[in-house]
Formats: sequence, C-alpha cells, structure tokens
Amino acid sequence: MITKPKGCHDIYGIEAKKWKYVNNLIDAVCERYNYQFIRTPIFESTELFHRGVGESSDIVTKETYDFIDRGDRKMTLRPEGTAGVVRSYIENKMYGEASQPVKLYYNGTMYRYERPQSGRDRELTQFGIEVLGSDDPMIDAEVISIAVNIYKLIGLQGIKVNINSLGDKESRDHYRKALVEYFTPHIDEMCEDCKNRLEKNPLRILDCKVDCDSEIMKKAPKITDYLNDESKKRFEQVQKYLSLLDIDYVVNPKIVRGLDYYDHTVFEIEAMVEDFGSQNVLGAGGRYNSLVKELGGPEIPGMGFAMGLGRLMLAIEKEDIKLPIDHSMDVFVMYVSDTEKDYATTLVQELRMNGFKVDTEYTGRGLKAQFKQADRLNSKFLIILNDEDLKNNEIKVKDNTTKEEETVELDYLMYYLDEKLSLEEECDCGCDHSDHECNGNCHCHDEDSIEF
Ligand code: HAM
Repeated sequence: MITKPKGCHDIYGIEAKKWKYVNNLIDAVCERYNYQFIRTPIFESTELFHRGVGESSDIVTKETYDFIDRGDRKMTLRPEGTAGVVRSYIENKMYGEASQPVKLYYNGTMYRYERPQSGRDRELTQFGIEVLGSDDPMIDAEVISIAVNIYKLIGLQGIKVNINSLGDKESRDHYRKALVEYFTPHIDEMCEDCKNRLEKNPLRILDCKVDCDSEIMKKAPKITDYLNDESKKRFEQVQKYLSLLDIDYVVNPKIVRGLDYYDHTVFEIEAMVEDFGSQNVLGAGGRYNSLVKELGGPEIPGMGFAMGLGRLMLAIEKEDIKLPIDHSMDVFVMYVSDTEKDYATTLVQELRMNGFKVDTEYTGRGLKAQFKQADRLNSKFLIILNDEDLKNNEIKVKDNTTKEEETVELDYLMYYLDEKLSLEEECDCGCDHSDHECNGNCHCHDEDSIEF
C-alpha cells in the first residue's frame, strides 16, 4: 500500500466539513475588515526565502523543501506566506495603488521539514494576513484583534495573547550588544545551535527550545529594558489600541519569534487547553518594516500574522466545540422503474438548479434501502416517484420528520418545497420572523452573516 508522506494529512468526511466551516468564517471576517484575498505560488525561488525569512532562521537552515527544477533553477516549497506575499506586492507594484494601505489575506499549504508530532506537520495550512503601507500602531492592534476575534467567533475559551516589542534598529543593536556580552562567558554551557546564534543572530538564542529553562536564559537581559524612547512610545500606543479593542494580552519579553524579518511589535497566541501538547502556539506574527526594502521594493512598512489551521482544529477538538455544521439534505429522490429513474435524472437537476440540496439513488437499491439511505443523509423531504403519479402530473412528497405524505402537482413542486423548507428554518437574526418571512433588511440571510 502506498501511504501518505510523514507529517501530512488526508482531510475528508466530517473533518473536511469542519475545515470548510472555519474557512468560510475566515473569509467572512476578512471581508468585514476589508482584507482582499491573495493567492501566490506554492513554490518560489529559493533566494526569496533566504532573503525574506532569514539565513539564520531554523526554517531556512533546517526545514525547507528545496529542489532544482528541469531548467536548473533553485526552487523551494514555501515554508510560510509572508515572503511570497511581499514578493507579489513588489512585483505587482501594489504600493502604487490608489487605495492604501494594502490589506491582504491568504489561506494555503506551507511546507516545513520538521519532526512531525501532534500540531507539528510537514504540510501545514496557514491562514495569514499582511498589511503593507501603514506604520500606524492602530494597524498592529487591528491585526492582533483579527486573530483573537476569529478564535472568539469559533468559540475557543482558552487563549493567551503574548505581545512584545523588538524595537527599532537602534534599540535592537543595543540589545544585541548586551546579549553578546551576557552570553559570551556562558556559551560553553549552551547548545550547539546557540553557539552559532551568538555569532549570527544573538536574539535567536532567546528562542532556543533546548536551553529555554536554564538559569542562564532566565537571567538574560530583557529587550524591554533596551527600547529607546520612540520604540517605547510606539509599544505603549499598540497597547492602548489593544485595550480600546478590548483585547486581553500580556507583555512577554521572551517572545522574539523565529523569523528574521521582525521589528517593533511581535506576538504569539497560545492555546491554554489541557493536553494540548507542546506545539501550543496557535498563531503568531508581527511588524516587519524593513522586509519590503530587503526584497528589492521601496521602504514600506508591513505587519501581519499567520495561524496554523491544523492547530486550530486541534484546539476545537480539545475544547470540545460543536461547530454549527449542517449535516442535512433538503430532498432525497426515490424511484424503482427505469422510466421513474429517467424522470429522477431530470428532476434532481431541476431541483439543484433551483437551489435545493438534493441527492438520489445510484446503486440499484430497492425502495426499503433507499429509505435507509435518505435517513443516513438526514434528508428533510423524500420524493417517491411513481409511474402512475407521473402520468397524472403529480408527485408524492413525504416530510421525513413528521412522516406526513402529500401528493403535489408537478407544476407546484418548487413552490411547495420552497415554502416547506423555509418554514422549517427559524430566522436566527433576532428579527422575530421565520426565515421565509424575513424581508432581508436585517441581512440575516447573507451567505457570510456571522455575529461578532
Ligand atoms: P510562524 O510562527 O512560523 O510565522 O507560523 C505561524 C503559525 O503557523 C504558528 O503559530 C503555527 O500555528 C503554525 N505552524 C508553523 N509551523 C507549523 C508546523 N510545522 N505544523 C503546524 N503548524 C505550524 C509565520 O509563518 C509568519 N509568516 C507569520 C507572519 C505573517 N508574520 C508576519 N506576517
């Protein structure tokens, strides 16, 4: 048997429905915040990630899927979304568009050659947003609030928002110097990776998973003590806007992030659920005011985040959240004879084209087994075709809940089903009518209507 690669998943059945629900919710939320969907390639030139994500990051040094294509070009499966979005922003000159800032979101698979475990995959799905063209701290707070509000809308209770500031270049230079001075006498007691980090990027030492609990690490200087006045003021403003948006957060000076492009605000949102496991960062991001320039564009600031949707699904499962997923069919069409089957073929198409969710029999089962199949599919109504009825331009419709059966004129069938099915659905917008009576002004039936 050929099996799927390590660290990858097949998503189907009820699990696929949950993913679809979450994806629809994400689309609806992004629509409300006026973020535009962007799709960039799953593979890009290797150089993009080296320059974008950073030469010294674990992602680039240990985790990329690299390959040489048939034209001898060095390519890499994207390990994250920011570098590709920024590349596209520059290549398509989005900085020249009339409407600024440019607010983008994406939802797609990323690839990291990591050691797979619960919540850590080799093929992972990230939903992410990137705002380009505004340095306003209000944007930092908006970006964090989008992530938090998505978790809230899904119903997660246990989340913790950790924020920190890496400051501007001057603050980071001072801090880097302080870290080198502090860690140099202790470096022999630390792991091999940290030895390299001390030379290449001492900030990264604070992100070490091996030495994180050591005394040396605990007593290390904190970035918050090295922020210059401007960076401090900026960080205070971000916190003011977060409070205005009613977002609970803690300032955690240990958050430095594993990618090289950040400055000023960085954040991580943790799942605080029992048994979640060590991979508990649901989403993370920050500001990257030098990345556009670094990748060959003008000096334009950016801010964004990405959340792992696999980890979100795990949190939904651990918190035992029942997503409002519709498992029902509107109508199941049943038949026995060949002429009834011919009629069923056209009828199901007509019903589907009129907006009903419809299925029928495809495996030659008898009527009894068809009733069972209709129950399995949670069909609300059954249409039982019969040659005699069809000759009289009639059709039998059974309400599968009340078990009441009515004979309906063929010409009237669509209206009949429309009325019956809308009566079944109570309007949940608080407008006090049933679904079919609602005049629509309340927007309760917009496809992406979600209550905040
Ligand atoms: P990141 O922290 O590398 O940031 O990844 C963001 C999120 O993706 C993580 O918090 C986690 O939920 C999920 N994730 C990462 N690696 C894995 C994995 N191996 N398996 C499952 N889930 C994973 C970024 O990717 C940045 N591009 C975020 C960003 C956007 N910063 C600014 N804009």
